[in-house]
Amino acid sequence: MAENQIIFGDNLEVMTDLAATASGRFQLAYLDPPYNTGGTPEDYDDQREPDQWIRFMRERLQALRPLMAPDGVVFVQIDDREQAHLKVLMDEILGRERCLAHVVIKMSELSGVKMSHADQRLPKVKEHLLIYGMGSGSQLRNMRRRKAPEVLANYLNYYRTIIDNPEDSPDQWCLLSIKTWARESGLLDGVRTGSKNETQRLQELKLEEAHRVVYRTNNRLLAEQNLPGISEVISPNGRRYISWQGKQMLFLKDHIDEPLSDLWTDLSTINLNKEGAGSFRFSKKPEALLHRCLELASKPGDWIIDPFCGSGTTAAVAHKMGRSWVTIDCEEHLLVQAKPRLDAVVAGQDAGGITRLVGWQGGGRFQFVHHPAAGGGEAVIGAVPQN
Ligand SMILES: C[S@@+](CC[C@H](N)C(=O)[O-])C[C@H]1O[C@@H](n2cnc3c(N)ncnc32)[C@H](O)[C@@H]1O
Repeated sequence: MAENQIIFGDNLEVMTDLAATASGRFQLAYLDPPYNTGGTPEDYDDQREPDQWIRFMRERLQALRPLMAPDGVVFVQIDDREQAHLKVLMDEILGRERCLAHVVIKMSELSGVKMSHADQRLPKVKEHLLIYGMGSGSQLRNMRRRKAPEVLANYLNYYRTIIDNPEDSPDQWCLLSIKTWARESGLLDGVRTGSKNETQRLQELKLEEAHRVVYRTNNRLLAEQNLPGISEVISPNGRRYISWQGKQMLFLKDHIDEPLSDLWTDLSTINLNKEGAGSFRFSKKPEALLHRCLELASKPGDWIIDPFCGSGTTAAVAHKMGRSWVTIDCEEHLLVQAKPRLDAVVAGQDAGGITRLVGWQGGGRFQFVHHPAAGGGEAVIGAVPQN
């Protein structure tokens, strides 16, 4: 039976050995390597000369390559210090034309430590996610997400009309102001007119009824025809419009979401101590970030690898999303943070991160493996499942 694995050892040695049993296995790799901060964070050493860091990453990307499926996708997260080196390296090893996206992610808030040198330099709040495909079949799923609250609130101000009878044909539609409709339907009972509560309730109702909440905008084709009332118009190139007294009727439902772009500012990095066990303060990633990566480039049942396990975020998310996984780390926190975190996930006792979002209730299992070169434990690398 195929097993998920958490492996204690140097990821170069482990990945090199995995090539014998798991070549072409992984659909998605997420790498969150030491950023070369020049310091020693509480959990692991992070000081290398620039050329040493490049060599370290080159060896690991080369060892990863044979493990990836021909249409697999590799994500590597990094901050400003080594981003440029990493990009050149990934172009060299995976192919410049294989770069699917270079995402910029807002990874911290403008507060506390970040602001202590704000008079001398710009506070750093972003990181980079370089995403490469392994072959011409590699792709990222088209995803949409809810517009930012302030942008959406702006839209909602314009949409003030509701279709009372959307089940009828457009020429029969009866339009009402949302406020009138909500009052007459008893949906604002007990809510004072003109109060903040009324505004908020109306906004909620607009989103709930977005398929029939509408707004008028200019449209040259419809202006030329200037039809009275409401009617359906098919343009010469076959596009369907609803004409509303010479203007175009827009539906709120078509403007709530937007395509996911390569600028991610919506992922919260606050309260990460509530995700997983232990502190791992400075480099733990939010489960929501890994959830997005896995949604973009994998499906249930796929194999995921994270050679820089840290607190076990990728494995925890992969497990909750029904993917199979292998994760590797060479430091003690694999035992004191990642393993207890994954034990809790399996036992259904991890209430943090994406648990509620995906309805995770526990289940599955994993093996804890000592790579022989790391000393101790049995060598069970060969137990990584065959296709
Ligand atoms: C930036 S942290 C990863 C954090 C992780 N993404 C999380 O959310 O908790 C980098 C991790 O790589 C591990 N690491 C560094 N060099 C390694 C190596 N040669 N082999 C295995 N793990 C290594 C460190 O111990 C550290 O846990």
